Amino acid sequence: MSHTDRPLTLAEIQTPALVLDRDQMRRNIALMAQAIGRSGARLRPHVKTHKSVDVWHDVCAAGGTGGITVSTLAEAEHFFAHGADDILYAVGIVPAKIARAARLLKAGARLTLVVDDADQARAIAAAAQAEAVVLPVMIEIDVDGHRAGIRPDSAALITLATLIASDPALHLAGVMTHAGGSYGSSTAAARLAAAQQEASGCVRAASRIRAAGIACETVSIGSTPTALAQADLAGVTEVRAGVYTFFDLVMAGLGVAEPGQIALSVLATVIGHQAEKGVLITDAGWMALSRDRGTASQAVDQGYGLVCDVMGSPLGDVIVQECNQEHGIIGARAPGARLALDRFPIGSQLRILPNHACATAAQHAHYMVLEQNEVIGQWPRIGGW
Ligand SMILES: Cc1ncc(COP(=O)(O)O)c(C=O)c1O
Repeated sequence: MSHTDRPLTLAEIQTPALVLDRDQMRRNIALMAQAIGRSGARLRPHVKTHKSVDVWHDVCAAGGTGGITVSTLAEAEHFFAHGADDILYAVGIVPAKIARAARLLKAGARLTLVVDDADQARAIAAAAQAEAVVLPVMIEIDVDGHRAGIRPDSAALITLATLIASDPALHLAGVMTHAGGSYGSSTAAARLAAAQQEASGCVRAASRIRAAGIACETVSIGSTPTALAQADLAGVTEVRAGVYTFFDLVMAGLGVAEPGQIALSVLATVIGHQAEKGVLITDAGWMALSRDRGTASQAVDQGYGLVCDVMGSPLGDVIVQECNQEHGIIGARAPGARLALDRFPIGSQLRILPNHACATAAQHAHYMVLEQNEVIGQWPRIGGW
């Protein structure tokens, strides 16, 4: 807020600044709440996109949530300190991190960790024993060869489940998977297929564990593209999704959202013109936008971001072509085309939609929050590990 009682205007914000359109964010939150509400599963929102307790409160206000997902122990500690007590740390765990996990468990957090390897499970069990805690763990399932996990039909799955179930320092809470391959699915049919593969692979893994006589309560799946694909989620108990709160150009490039649904942007000021090249320069370089070039491999390359007017309406084929640390070079998307620079006076403001919302937000310490395009406050976000 300003020194006076009235709210800040966009023109008064020091740039570059991370701007959050709360009205649009709430629409995105409602969209996911409806999609998951229909499925019968609970939503376990991933807070890694926003890392903001204020945003999480808006997510909870829409209902249907059960616990949170985090990508760092720093998120787990921060959100627990602010009232979240059911937390899935959805990145593989190692013994060196068990002391911090144990502190959270002893303080009353219902923290669940993720493993996909027998040696890893033995090592964290030893660390847990030294800390005098029992660690709830989920087995990560690999449904699409994208990243971590073990295959639902592998013998290793039952070996690992048996090892966990028989170790007094561990408790098998369930199975989880993340269909990261869905970020390459650019048609609705491909996303539905990825979502069905995600759900059926994880349900199958849980059934095999149960058939071996071992309890496997939670079946946790999710990514934004698959969560919105309306697959049959029979047997799935929870869905994790994160980037939907803001959406971004990568999601728009896949067809998961429209550019107009992107709630996050970087407010920038025009600091120079290069008339002979027909480009302009702003104060939003990669420090403000991130180096993410996630749309480079998509049908429409958005450079380092799609440029909007100060009210947030996309200008069409105007993109951030190049980035230096604190300079963003904005020009026309078409090779050789020049911008009419008199439309962008020096000192005027623009907004830039991010390729990858998580990466762009991570460049900033707080959000300037807008309602009806007026600044209603400043929300902090956390970083670090
Ligand atoms: C393990 C895990 N679960 C859920 C998600 C959420 O995916 P999205 O951001 O597409 O909603 C991610 C994202 O990377 C993830 O790594």
